[in-house]
Amino acid sequence: MLHLSVDPEAPDPAAIRQAAEAIRRGELVAFPTETVYGLGADALDPAAVARIFEAKGRPADNPLIVHVARAEDLDALVRRVPPEAHLLAAYFWPGPLTLVLPRRPHVPDITTGGLNTVAVRVPAHPVALALIEACGRPLAAPSANRSGRPSPTRAEDVIADLGDRVAVVLDAGPCSVGLESTVLDLSSNTPVLLRPGGVSREAIEAVVGPVRLGAGEAEGARSPGTRYRHYAPRARLLLAPPGEAEREARRVAASSPPGVRVGVIARAALTGPAGDLEARVFPGSVEAYARGLFAALRDLDAAGCTVVVAESVPDEGIGLAVMDRLRRAASGSGGAGDARA
Ligand code: TXA
Ligand code: MG
Repeated sequence: MLHLSVDPEAPDPAAIRQAAEAIRRGELVAFPTETVYGLGADALDPAAVARIFEAKGRPADNPLIVHVARAEDLDALVRRVPPEAHLLAAYFWPGPLTLVLPRRPHVPDITTGGLNTVAVRVPAHPVALALIEACGRPLAAPSANRSGRPSPTRAEDVIADLGDRVAVVLDAGPCSVGLESTVLDLSSNTPVLLRPGGVSREAIEAVVGPVRLGAGEAEGARSPGTRYRHYAPRARLLLAPPGEAEREARRVAASSPPGVRVGVIARAALTGPAGDLEARVFPGSVEAYARGLFAALRDLDAAGCTVVVAESVPDEGIGLAVMDRLRRAASGSGGAGDARA
Protein backbone atom coordinates (compact mmCIF):
# COMPACT_ATOMS: atom_id res chain seq x y z
CA MET A 1 0.00 0.00 0.00
CA LEU A 2 1.25 3.41 -0.99
CA HIS A 3 0.55 6.15 1.60
CA LEU A 4 0.80 9.58 -0.04
CA SER A 5 0.46 12.76 2.04
CA VAL A 6 -1.04 15.63 0.08
CA ASP A 7 -1.94 19.24 0.75
CA PRO A 8 -5.75 19.28 1.20
CA GLU A 9 -6.13 22.54 -0.72
CA ALA A 10 -3.48 22.05 -3.42
CA PRO A 11 -2.61 18.37 -3.80
CA ASP A 12 0.65 17.46 -5.54
CA PRO A 13 -0.24 16.57 -9.16
CA ALA A 14 2.28 13.69 -9.13
CA ALA A 15 0.48 12.04 -6.19
CA ILE A 16 -2.91 12.53 -7.86
CA ARG A 17 -1.52 11.04 -11.08
CA GLN A 18 -0.25 7.94 -9.27
CA ALA A 19 -3.63 7.44 -7.60
CA ALA A 20 -5.49 7.99 -10.89
CA GLU A 21 -3.31 5.39 -12.62
CA ALA A 22 -4.19 2.88 -9.89
CA ILE A 23 -7.90 3.57 -10.50
CA ARG A 24 -7.43 3.04 -14.24
CA ARG A 25 -5.70 -0.28 -13.52
CA GLY A 26 -8.83 -1.37 -11.61
CA GLU A 27 -7.24 -0.95 -8.16
CA LEU A 28 -8.63 0.65 -5.00
CA VAL A 29 -7.70 4.16 -3.83
CA ALA A 30 -8.71 5.61 -0.47
CA PHE A 31 -9.22 9.35 -0.73
CA PRO A 32 -10.47 12.17 1.49
CA THR A 33 -13.83 13.83 1.04
CA GLU A 34 -15.32 16.59 3.19
CA THR A 35 -17.45 13.95 5.00
CA VAL A 36 -15.29 10.84 5.54
CA TYR A 37 -12.58 8.98 3.62
CA GLY A 38 -13.90 7.00 0.65
CA LEU A 39 -12.70 3.70 -0.81
CA GLY A 40 -12.74 4.44 -4.53
CA ALA A 41 -12.82 2.38 -7.70
CA ASP A 42 -13.99 2.96 -11.27
CA ALA A 43 -17.78 2.92 -10.86
CA LEU A 44 -18.32 1.58 -14.39
CA ASP A 45 -15.88 -1.36 -14.05
CA PRO A 46 -17.64 -4.31 -12.37
CA ALA A 47 -14.38 -6.12 -11.54
CA ALA A 48 -12.95 -3.03 -9.81
CA VAL A 49 -16.19 -2.46 -7.89
CA ALA A 50 -16.16 -6.11 -6.78
CA ARG A 51 -12.81 -5.39 -5.07
CA ILE A 52 -14.50 -2.72 -2.93
CA PHE A 53 -17.06 -5.20 -1.60
CA GLU A 54 -14.33 -7.73 -0.93
CA ALA A 55 -12.00 -5.26 0.83
CA LYS A 56 -14.80 -3.96 3.08
CA GLY A 57 -16.50 -7.28 3.71
CA ARG A 58 -19.67 -5.54 2.56
CA PRO A 59 -22.94 -7.35 1.70
CA ALA A 60 -23.48 -7.37 -2.08
CA ASP A 61 -26.99 -5.88 -1.85
CA ASN A 62 -25.74 -2.64 -0.26
CA PRO A 63 -25.24 -0.18 -3.15
CA LEU A 64 -22.44 2.35 -3.50
CA ILE A 65 -22.42 6.10 -4.00
CA VAL A 66 -20.97 7.27 -7.33
CA HIS A 67 -18.81 10.40 -7.08
CA VAL A 68 -18.53 12.82 -9.99
CA ALA A 69 -16.65 16.12 -10.36
CA ARG A 70 -19.46 18.29 -11.78
CA ALA A 71 -23.24 18.39 -11.56
CA GLU A 72 -23.38 18.04 -15.38
CA ASP A 73 -21.80 14.59 -15.03
CA LEU A 74 -25.05 13.38 -13.45
CA ASP A 75 -26.66 13.25 -16.91
CA ALA A 76 -24.41 10.40 -18.03
CA LEU A 77 -25.46 8.19 -15.09
CA VAL A 78 -29.19 8.77 -14.65
CA ARG A 79 -32.12 8.50 -17.04
CA ARG A 80 -33.59 11.89 -16.25
CA VAL A 81 -32.66 14.77 -13.98
CA PRO A 82 -35.87 16.12 -12.42
CA PRO A 83 -36.15 19.84 -11.56
CA GLU A 84 -35.66 19.18 -7.82
CA ALA A 85 -32.36 17.47 -8.57
CA HIS A 86 -31.18 20.48 -10.58
CA LEU A 87 -32.17 22.80 -7.74
CA LEU A 88 -30.56 20.72 -5.00
CA ALA A 89 -27.38 20.28 -7.04
CA ALA A 90 -27.20 24.04 -7.57
CA TYR A 91 -27.58 24.70 -3.84
CA PHE A 92 -25.55 21.91 -2.28
CA TRP A 93 -22.95 20.60 -4.77
CA PRO A 94 -20.10 20.24 -4.28
CA GLY A 95 -21.17 19.06 -0.84
CA PRO A 96 -22.47 16.31 1.45
CA LEU A 97 -25.73 15.53 -0.37
CA THR A 98 -26.28 12.31 -2.34
CA LEU A 99 -29.17 12.07 -4.80
CA VAL A 100 -30.79 8.74 -5.73
CA LEU A 101 -32.25 8.65 -9.26
CA PRO A 102 -33.22 6.03 -11.87
CA ARG A 103 -29.98 4.75 -13.41
CA ARG A 104 -28.93 4.39 -17.00
CA PRO A 105 -28.44 0.77 -18.11
CA HIS A 106 -24.63 1.01 -18.40
CA VAL A 107 -24.24 1.62 -14.65
CA PRO A 108 -23.28 -1.87 -13.47
CA ASP A 109 -25.58 -3.94 -11.26
CA ILE A 110 -22.80 -4.50 -8.76
CA THR A 111 -22.45 -0.73 -8.21
CA THR A 112 -26.16 -0.27 -7.48
CA GLY A 113 -26.64 -3.51 -5.55
CA GLY A 114 -29.00 -4.63 -8.30
CA LEU A 115 -31.35 -1.64 -7.82
CA ASN A 116 -32.72 0.31 -10.78
CA THR A 117 -31.52 3.54 -9.16
CA VAL A 118 -28.06 5.01 -8.63
CA ALA A 119 -26.81 7.29 -5.85
CA VAL A 120 -24.62 10.22 -6.99
CA ARG A 121 -22.80 13.12 -5.36
CA VAL A 122 -20.16 15.78 -6.05
CA PRO A 123 -17.80 15.83 -3.05
CA ALA A 124 -16.52 19.18 -1.73
CA HIS A 125 -12.86 18.28 -1.36
CA PRO A 126 -10.10 19.46 -3.71
CA VAL A 127 -8.31 16.09 -3.45
CA ALA A 128 -11.42 14.07 -4.31
CA LEU A 129 -12.23 16.38 -7.22
CA ALA A 130 -8.65 16.28 -8.52
CA LEU A 131 -8.64 12.47 -8.40
CA ILE A 132 -11.96 12.17 -10.27
CA GLU A 133 -10.76 14.63 -12.92
CA ALA A 134 -7.39 12.92 -13.30
CA CYS A 135 -8.75 9.41 -13.79
CA GLY A 136 -11.62 10.59 -15.99
CA ARG A 137 -14.02 8.09 -14.42
CA PRO A 138 -16.91 8.35 -11.98
CA LEU A 139 -15.73 6.84 -8.69
CA ALA A 140 -17.80 4.39 -6.69
CA ALA A 141 -16.81 4.98 -3.08
CA PRO A 142 -18.29 3.79 0.18
CA SER A 143 -16.74 4.91 3.44
CA ALA A 144 -13.26 3.37 3.65
CA ASN A 145 -13.84 1.29 6.78
CA ARG A 146 -14.28 -2.43 7.27
CA SER A 147 -18.02 -3.07 7.17
CA GLY A 148 -19.74 -2.28 10.47
CA ARG A 149 -16.93 -0.11 11.91
CA PRO A 150 -17.15 3.67 12.42
CA SER A 151 -16.41 5.53 9.18
CA PRO A 152 -12.82 6.79 8.87
CA THR A 153 -12.27 10.53 9.23
CA ARG A 154 -8.45 10.25 9.21
CA ALA A 155 -6.09 8.36 6.88
CA GLU A 156 -4.76 6.34 9.84
CA ASP A 157 -8.26 4.94 10.42
CA VAL A 158 -8.36 3.73 6.81
CA ILE A 159 -4.96 2.09 7.19
CA ALA A 160 -5.96 0.46 10.49
CA ASP A 161 -9.07 -1.07 8.89
CA LEU A 162 -7.91 -1.88 5.36
CA GLY A 163 -4.08 -1.85 5.25
CA ASP A 164 -2.86 -3.64 2.14
CA ARG A 165 -6.38 -4.27 0.87
CA VAL A 166 -6.03 -0.80 -0.70
CA ALA A 167 -3.42 0.14 -3.33
CA VAL A 168 -3.07 3.86 -2.54
CA VAL A 169 -4.13 6.06 0.39
CA LEU A 170 -4.27 9.79 -0.30
CA ASP A 171 -3.80 11.40 3.11
CA ALA A 172 -5.01 14.99 3.43
CA GLY A 173 -5.53 15.05 7.19
CA PRO A 174 -8.87 14.98 9.03
CA CYS A 175 -12.22 15.43 7.27
CA SER A 176 -14.10 18.65 7.97
CA VAL A 177 -17.70 17.36 8.29
CA GLY A 178 -16.90 14.02 9.96
CA LEU A 179 -20.25 12.32 9.17
CA GLU A 180 -21.39 10.93 5.83
CA SER A 181 -23.51 12.65 3.22
CA THR A 182 -27.28 12.96 3.39
CA VAL A 183 -28.90 10.39 1.06
CA LEU A 184 -32.08 11.70 -0.61
CA ASP A 185 -34.21 9.53 -2.88
CA LEU A 186 -35.68 11.55 -5.77
CA SER A 187 -36.81 8.54 -7.78
CA SER A 188 -40.50 8.92 -6.80
CA ASN A 189 -42.85 11.87 -6.39
CA THR A 190 -41.93 12.96 -2.86
CA PRO A 191 -38.27 13.25 -1.84
CA VAL A 192 -37.41 10.64 0.81
CA LEU A 193 -34.56 11.11 3.27
CA LEU A 194 -32.89 7.70 3.35
CA ARG A 195 -29.95 8.72 5.55
CA PRO A 196 -29.53 11.98 7.46
CA GLY A 197 -26.08 13.50 6.97
CA GLY A 198 -24.01 16.58 6.34
CA VAL A 199 -26.80 18.60 4.70
CA SER A 200 -29.69 19.02 7.13
CA ARG A 201 -33.28 18.06 6.42
CA GLU A 202 -34.25 21.67 7.17
CA ALA A 203 -31.83 23.00 4.54
CA ILE A 204 -33.20 20.59 1.92
CA GLU A 205 -36.81 21.46 2.75
CA ALA A 206 -36.01 25.15 2.36
CA VAL A 207 -35.16 24.38 -1.27
CA VAL A 208 -37.66 21.69 -2.36
CA GLY A 209 -40.37 21.68 0.29
CA PRO A 210 -41.44 18.75 2.48
CA VAL A 211 -39.23 15.67 2.65
CA ARG A 212 -40.35 12.33 4.03
CA LEU A 213 -38.19 10.59 6.63
CA GLY A 214 -37.43 7.11 5.38
CA ALA A 215 -35.59 5.59 8.30
CA GLY A 216 -38.33 3.12 9.28
CA GLU A 217 -38.29 -0.62 8.59
CA ALA A 218 -40.64 -0.12 5.66
CA GLU A 219 -37.89 1.74 3.84
CA GLY A 220 -35.45 -1.14 4.22
CA ALA A 221 -35.76 -2.11 0.61
CA ARG A 222 -35.10 1.42 -0.61
CA SER A 223 -31.86 2.02 1.25
CA PRO A 224 -30.32 -1.33 1.90
CA GLY A 225 -27.49 0.24 3.90
CA THR A 226 -29.81 1.24 6.71
CA ARG A 227 -30.70 -2.42 7.39
CA TYR A 228 -27.24 -3.40 8.52
CA ARG A 229 -25.36 -2.94 11.72
CA HIS A 230 -23.25 0.20 11.49
CA TYR A 231 -20.69 2.47 13.07
CA ALA A 232 -20.11 0.15 16.00
CA PRO A 233 -17.06 0.57 18.20
CA ARG A 234 -15.76 -2.54 19.97
CA ALA A 235 -16.84 -1.05 23.29
CA ARG A 236 -20.47 -1.19 24.40
CA LEU A 237 -22.01 2.22 23.63
CA LEU A 238 -24.57 3.85 25.92
CA LEU A 239 -26.41 7.10 25.18
CA ALA A 240 -26.90 9.75 27.86
CA PRO A 241 -29.39 12.64 27.73
CA PRO A 242 -27.96 16.10 26.90
CA GLY A 243 -25.75 17.32 29.75
CA GLU A 244 -25.78 13.93 31.52
CA ALA A 245 -22.82 12.11 29.96
CA GLU A 246 -20.33 12.64 32.81
CA ARG A 247 -22.83 11.69 35.50
CA GLU A 248 -23.86 8.55 33.60
CA ALA A 249 -20.21 7.57 32.92
CA ARG A 250 -19.36 7.94 36.62
CA ARG A 251 -22.35 5.79 37.52
CA VAL A 252 -21.19 3.07 35.07
CA ALA A 253 -17.61 3.30 36.39
CA ALA A 254 -18.80 3.02 40.00
CA SER A 255 -20.78 -0.14 39.24
CA SER A 256 -18.00 -1.77 37.16
CA PRO A 257 -15.18 -3.97 38.41
CA PRO A 258 -12.00 -2.03 39.23
CA GLY A 259 -9.78 -1.31 36.26
CA VAL A 260 -12.62 -1.05 33.73
CA ARG A 261 -11.95 2.04 31.61
CA VAL A 262 -15.11 3.99 30.81
CA GLY A 263 -15.08 6.32 27.82
CA VAL A 264 -17.16 9.46 27.77
CA ILE A 265 -17.95 11.61 24.73
CA ALA A 266 -19.38 14.89 25.93
CA ARG A 267 -20.00 18.49 24.95
CA ALA A 268 -18.55 19.93 28.17
CA ALA A 269 -15.31 19.29 30.07
CA LEU A 270 -15.40 16.92 33.06
CA THR A 271 -16.26 18.72 36.28
CA GLY A 272 -14.30 16.30 38.48
CA PRO A 273 -11.11 14.20 38.36
CA ALA A 274 -10.87 11.75 35.46
CA GLY A 275 -10.30 8.63 37.56
CA ASP A 276 -11.32 5.64 35.41
CA LEU A 277 -12.89 7.92 32.79
CA GLU A 278 -11.31 8.54 29.41
CA ALA A 279 -12.97 11.68 28.04
CA ARG A 280 -13.30 13.20 24.58
CA VAL A 281 -14.87 16.63 24.83
CA PHE A 282 -16.36 18.75 22.03
CA PRO A 283 -17.41 22.10 23.45
CA GLY A 284 -19.37 24.48 21.25
CA SER A 285 -21.31 23.58 18.15
CA VAL A 286 -22.99 20.29 17.27
CA GLU A 287 -20.91 20.51 14.05
CA ALA A 288 -17.74 20.17 16.16
CA TYR A 289 -19.24 17.14 17.91
CA ALA A 290 -20.14 15.60 14.53
CA ARG A 291 -16.63 16.26 13.21
CA GLY A 292 -14.96 14.44 16.10
CA LEU A 293 -17.43 11.67 16.86
CA PHE A 294 -16.13 8.78 14.73
CA ALA A 295 -12.50 9.49 15.63
CA ALA A 296 -13.49 9.59 19.31
CA LEU A 297 -15.19 6.18 19.06
CA ARG A 298 -12.08 4.71 17.47
CA ASP A 299 -9.70 6.40 19.95
CA LEU A 300 -11.68 5.21 22.97
CA ASP A 301 -11.50 1.64 21.63
CA ALA A 302 -7.75 2.06 21.22
CA ALA A 303 -7.51 3.39 24.79
CA GLY A 304 -9.01 0.12 26.02
CA CYS A 305 -12.47 1.36 27.03
CA THR A 306 -14.99 -1.46 27.27
CA VAL A 307 -17.94 0.88 27.77
CA VAL A 308 -18.45 4.31 26.20
CA VAL A 309 -21.12 6.82 27.23
CA ALA A 310 -21.98 9.38 24.54
CA GLU A 311 -23.99 12.56 25.06
CA SER A 312 -27.17 12.92 22.99
CA VAL A 313 -27.92 16.09 21.03
CA PRO A 314 -31.26 17.45 19.74
CA ASP A 315 -32.58 15.75 16.55
CA GLU A 316 -32.27 18.90 14.44
CA GLY A 317 -29.78 20.25 11.91
CA ILE A 318 -26.76 17.98 11.74
CA GLY A 319 -27.87 16.67 15.15
CA LEU A 320 -30.30 14.36 13.31
CA ALA A 321 -27.31 12.66 11.63
CA VAL A 322 -25.32 12.55 14.88
CA MET A 323 -28.22 10.82 16.67
CA ASP A 324 -28.80 8.43 13.75
CA ARG A 325 -25.16 7.27 13.97
CA LEU A 326 -25.17 7.12 17.77
CA ARG A 327 -28.39 5.08 17.90
CA ARG A 328 -27.13 2.61 15.31
CA ALA A 329 -23.77 2.31 17.02
CA ALA A 330 -25.47 1.78 20.38
CA SER A 331 -27.83 -0.89 19.07
CA GLY A 332 -25.05 -2.63 17.16
CA SER A 333 -22.27 -2.61 19.70
CA GLY A 334 -21.29 -5.32 22.10
CA GLY A 335 -23.18 -8.01 20.17
CA ALA A 336 -22.01 -10.95 18.11
CA GLY A 337 -21.10 -10.32 14.48
CA ASP A 338 -24.19 -10.06 12.30
CA ALA A 339 -24.87 -8.71 8.82
CA ARG A 340 -22.79 -5.58 8.49
CA ALA A 341 -22.42 -2.62 6.17
O1 TXA B 1 -20.31 10.89 2.70
C1 TXA B 1 -20.51 9.83 2.09
O2 TXA B 1 -21.60 9.57 1.57
C2 TXA B 1 -19.32 8.84 1.99
C3 TXA B 1 -18.23 9.50 1.16
C4 TXA B 1 -17.08 8.57 0.87
O3 TXA B 1 -18.78 10.03 -0.01
N1 TXA B 1 -19.76 7.61 1.41
C5 TXA B 1 -20.57 6.75 2.10
O4 TXA B 1 -20.86 5.58 1.42
O5 TXA B 1 -20.99 6.96 3.21
P1 TXA B 1 -21.49 4.29 2.12
O6 TXA B 1 -21.39 3.24 1.09
O7 TXA B 1 -20.80 4.05 3.40
O8 TXA B 1 -23.00 4.64 2.32
C6 TXA B 1 -23.84 4.75 1.17
C7 TXA B 1 -25.28 4.77 1.59
C8 TXA B 1 -25.74 3.40 2.05
O9 TXA B 1 -26.66 3.59 3.13
C9 TXA B 1 -26.43 2.85 0.80
O10 TXA B 1 -27.40 1.87 1.10
C10 TXA B 1 -27.05 4.10 0.22
O11 TXA B 1 -26.07 5.10 0.43
N2 TXA B 1 -27.31 3.96 -1.22
C11 TXA B 1 -26.40 3.87 -2.22
N3 TXA B 1 -27.00 3.69 -3.40
C12 TXA B 1 -28.33 3.67 -3.17
C13 TXA B 1 -29.49 3.51 -3.99
N4 TXA B 1 -29.40 3.33 -5.31
N5 TXA B 1 -30.70 3.54 -3.40
C14 TXA B 1 -30.80 3.74 -2.06
N6 TXA B 1 -29.75 3.88 -1.22
C15 TXA B 1 -28.53 3.85 -1.77
MG1 MG C 1 -20.37 3.39 5.26
